[in-house]
Amino acid sequence: MVDLVVDKLIRRYGALQAIDDVSFTVKSGEFLTLLGPSGCGKSTTLGALAGLDKPTEGLIKFGDRTIFDSKKNIYVSAEARNCGLVFQSYALWPHMTIEQNLAFPLKLRKVGSAERTRRIQEVLTLVEMQDYAQRYPNQLSGGQQQRVALARTLVYQPSILLLDEPLSNLDAKLRDKARIWLSELQAQVKLTTIYVTHDQSEALALSDRIAVMNKGKIVQLGTPHEIYSRPADPFVADFIGTSTFFPGRVQSVSGECATIALASGKTIAAKSVKALRAGADVVVAVRPENLRLSAGQGARMGDQGTLLNGRIVSRSYLGATNQYLVNIDGVVAKTETPEDFSVDTDVSVWIPAHGSVVFAKDS
Ligand SMILES: Nc1ncnc2c1ncn2[C@@H]1O[C@H](COP(=O)(O)OP(=O)(O)O)[C@@H](O)[C@H]1O
Ligand SMILES: [Mg+2]
Repeated sequence: MVDLVVDKLIRRYGALQAIDDVSFTVKSGEFLTLLGPSGCGKSTTLGALAGLDKPTEGLIKFGDRTIFDSKKNIYVSAEARNCGLVFQSYALWPHMTIEQNLAFPLKLRKVGSAERTRRIQEVLTLVEMQDYAQRYPNQLSGGQQQRVALARTLVYQPSILLLDEPLSNLDAKLRDKARIWLSELQAQVKLTTIYVTHDQSEALALSDRIAVMNKGKIVQLGTPHEIYSRPADPFVADFIGTSTFFPGRVQSVSGECATIALASGKTIAAKSVKALRAGADVVVAVRPENLRLSAGQGARMGDQGTLLNGRIVSRSYLGATNQYLVNIDGVVAKTETPEDFSVDTDVSVWIPAHGSVVFAKDS
């Protein structure tokens, strides 16, 4: 268990800056997720930690040990880093039983036979696969194979666990289950973990902290709650959860709260992450759960908030709830509620106070 430090990491491929000056620290035992769209540099960053790829510039330390330093020309090989790496594909040896698959990395590390047996037993119990030791990989489901892949990594007691989209080959139901299971496992083993995913709900559910990446940069680093409730920019507001963006202009500013005039002339109070000046063009981001619909127009749903008028554009039945697209002042917003509204009816849209965040228009 060690702290991990990444400082000013850069990886260029020709003209492309796949990692563009990335710095972060992970505390011992912490679960940090790199979250972002495909191609934003998550796997390249993970590969740099694992020693699969040599970055162009920067510094990486595991605890007191420098494993990469471009200035001092230090580059520790992958084998000597003792990272546990799990990918989307399980990559188990098909001709070996589960037990033999797990024994393999231990034999490489010259672990004796009795100790091998003990550790394999222990780690298979940890991933709840103790009854499958004599099976072959093709006799297991995808979810079971992924557990074995994780066990094969845990069995050699890595100092850091690196997981690259490990659940994305599983179907939706299994992925939900595996997520809960992984979260419980992490609480038991307390390994410093870097988890890569493009799936925001996975990141929110599993992580102590999330680093949101876009185009090779970390655009925000914080707890799931911080990232969701105080997104640093419109990209984060839209990538984590969804947001509807209303254009507007700053009327007045008081501390971190700004009053914004929307196109309709109505005003809305919104939190601002960065300082804004009166008169500036802005966008106000509102989460679907903060757009509360009720029948007819002019119906307030509380003392503090903003009332807007809307018209239902479309409705999708989702079983427990309905998803609506609502035209509000020319902006089409997505929201959900179990209540029934027909297409083309007028509705009131109530946005409670503290239910919106404002960004400068050019951010
Ligand atoms: N070996 C490589 N050669 C050239 N470009 C690469 C190479 N590996 C990755 N890239 C590019 O670097 C960017 C980041 O890739 P990657 O880290 O795999 O993204 P992610 O894992 O976030 O989807 C992408 O534009 C990708 O095409
Ligand atoms: Mg990737």
